[in-house]
Amino acid sequence: MNENESNNSNTMKRIFYLLMVMTLSVSCSKQPKVSSPDGTIQLLFRLTDAGSPQYCVQQDDKLVIDWSALGLNCAEQDLTSDFTLQGFDNRFYQETWETIWGEESEINDIHNEMTVHLRHACDMEMDIVFRVFNDGFAFRYTFSEQEIKQLTILDEVTEYRFMADHEAWSIPWRTEYYEGIWTKAPLSQKDTMCSPITLELTDGGYAFVHEAALRDYPAQNFYVQDGVLRTYLTPWLDENAQIMQEKAYKTVPFPTPWRMVILARDLRQMTASRIMLNLNPPCRIEDTSWIKPMKFIGIWWGMHMKSMTWEQGPIHGATTKNMERYLRFANEHNMQAVLAEGWNKGWEDWQHFSFTEPYSDWDMDYLSNLAQELGVQIIGHNETGGNAADYEAVLDEAYAYHQAHGIHAIKTGYVSPIIRTVDGLQLNKGQSGVRHYRRVVETAAKYHICIDNHEPVMPTGWQRTWPNLMSQEGVRGQEWNAWSKDGGNPCSHVTVLPFTRIMAGPVDFTPGVFAFENPVMPGTRVHSTLANQLGLFVCLYSPLQMACDLPENYMKHPEAFEFIESVPCDWERSLLVDGKIGEFCIFARQERDGEDWYIGGINNEQAREVCVPLSMLSHDKEYTAYIYHDTDDADWQTNPYGCVKEQAEVTSVDTLHLKMASGGGFAIQILTH
Ligand code: NOJ
Repeated sequence: MNENESNNSNTMKRIFYLLMVMTLSVSCSKQPKVSSPDGTIQLLFRLTDAGSPQYCVQQDDKLVIDWSALGLNCAEQDLTSDFTLQGFDNRFYQETWETIWGEESEINDIHNEMTVHLRHACDMEMDIVFRVFNDGFAFRYTFSEQEIKQLTILDEVTEYRFMADHEAWSIPWRTEYYEGIWTKAPLSQKDTMCSPITLELTDGGYAFVHEAALRDYPAQNFYVQDGVLRTYLTPWLDENAQIMQEKAYKTVPFPTPWRMVILARDLRQMTASRIMLNLNPPCRIEDTSWIKPMKFIGIWWGMHMKSMTWEQGPIHGATTKNMERYLRFANEHNMQAVLAEGWNKGWEDWQHFSFTEPYSDWDMDYLSNLAQELGVQIIGHNETGGNAADYEAVLDEAYAYHQAHGIHAIKTGYVSPIIRTVDGLQLNKGQSGVRHYRRVVETAAKYHICIDNHEPVMPTGWQRTWPNLMSQEGVRGQEWNAWSKDGGNPCSHVTVLPFTRIMAGPVDFTPGVFAFENPVMPGTRVHSTLANQLGLFVCLYSPLQMACDLPENYMKHPEAFEFIESVPCDWERSLLVDGKIGEFCIFARQERDGEDWYIGGINNEQAREVCVPLSMLSHDKEYTAYIYHDTDDADWQTNPYGCVKEQAEVTSVDTLHLKMASGGGFAIQILTH
């Protein structure tokens, strides 16, 4: 049984369900088209004289994407031309589903769908399924059971012919682990790009181009040729780790991942879009009671700051004694878990990691009992050094070991630009890598283990189907502020992420540094004020949210730390209050199953004043706001610790006026009376 055929095992979770299917097989003389339920977006399909499939998209009666190519070039048959149209079906779909965790508790999925049935001159059949939502569209190629059983995909020719040379935010397609600084330039000046990309449209709107439900298929990338945005699938590597022409080996029947474009009038609409999650199949895990969003600290930052080591030795981080200290600190400060890196054997050479054998100074039984007593979880750590094949061979054993010690979350890692999968050396976002990551998540679910995946393939919404996949890296995270030779992340970096990387899914950025300089690496530092670090907890969404600094550093700023102690990481509602990509970002989020609100602001290098209307609050309630903000003289370079906490009585008609320093920000806790 595959996911698409599977009955929804989670029907209990679905609180409202309405499906209206108006299947209409239309004669081929009519133009196949499909509109969004509100009628603002229209997608048209046609075959050219050569039988090549194409689509175009209009929004508010204006062409936004001109006729663009569709199709797959396969070794067995070129499926980009010589098609005839057999017919097409349209249907309307509406559903509201409940999230296990997320930026909101309920998500609406309202769209019109059109399936176009094509027959190739060689008799092969290919369908293209289009879905048009009120805030964008998606499509995918599907192959039903037929004579041909295997397809070797050499190229996917999908195009997006935007009508203007829009500004694009992106990172190059071979950016290692996606850990790059996102840059903006007109599409025509871009070379290669990872998926996703975010476009600032010339008319003031935004487009977010990505994929959804990537499974057993290579990740999508983009390149621009003659001003046209085109798909480039991640290739297989040969035995010498050289790029091959082959991109995917598929067994028929199969669907490809969805190609999706959010078309938003503003950033608020773009960040509120849930198209990607809606395109993924419903939850496959029957009992999800063990999947819990958690805030955590960890034996981690010390290694990146070089005051501790992963491997055993005089300054070994993950010792029983140290972990006991961290567990007690977590218990006292409302942290639900502690991550421990370097607890297991293998860090001397990064080649032969064990996932079941602790170093001799780590007493797993004692610590797991203590954790249970204190009501704090241990987050395990499985660094593979990129050896995915060896990890896969011991997955069951490793997860059974963690489960036996009461561990319900594991951070995985693949530090190596090319990973070794069961298919040899491969790019992590190639088809083989994608299969591996998926196996990990599905196997972990059997052992009630949640995954925080570092060096991942870019998220595409798997968490709807497998909500034990809670967070992923795939970002130039906080750790770069510890050791990056270029001095650390510029202030603007975090103000780009909510509109680019995090649009693809939760991010393990690891906010919360409270000591910005490191004597061991004087050239590198955190480009931030204290208030900015607090704002990150609201702006950079993750259901596993790490407060990454050392307990002793938190204790130097106990008042600021109060915000980290109180901020949740699971939300009832989320909304962008204001923002501009690369300049600043303000998010407001309401605590899940609660009434209280949290608002975070983060800023780039340019100090600014912002207004925060509190209209999201209930009109019939009164609130107390605790506002943590930059002092007037705060500045990430000259006075990063300038942060004050103020209290104010507020209601929904109030507007807060706040100053954000250079590299600054703010964080607000708003409690109901
Ligand atoms: C890179 C990860 O991003 C980091 O969080 C981890 O500490 C190291 N690899 C070691 O696994």
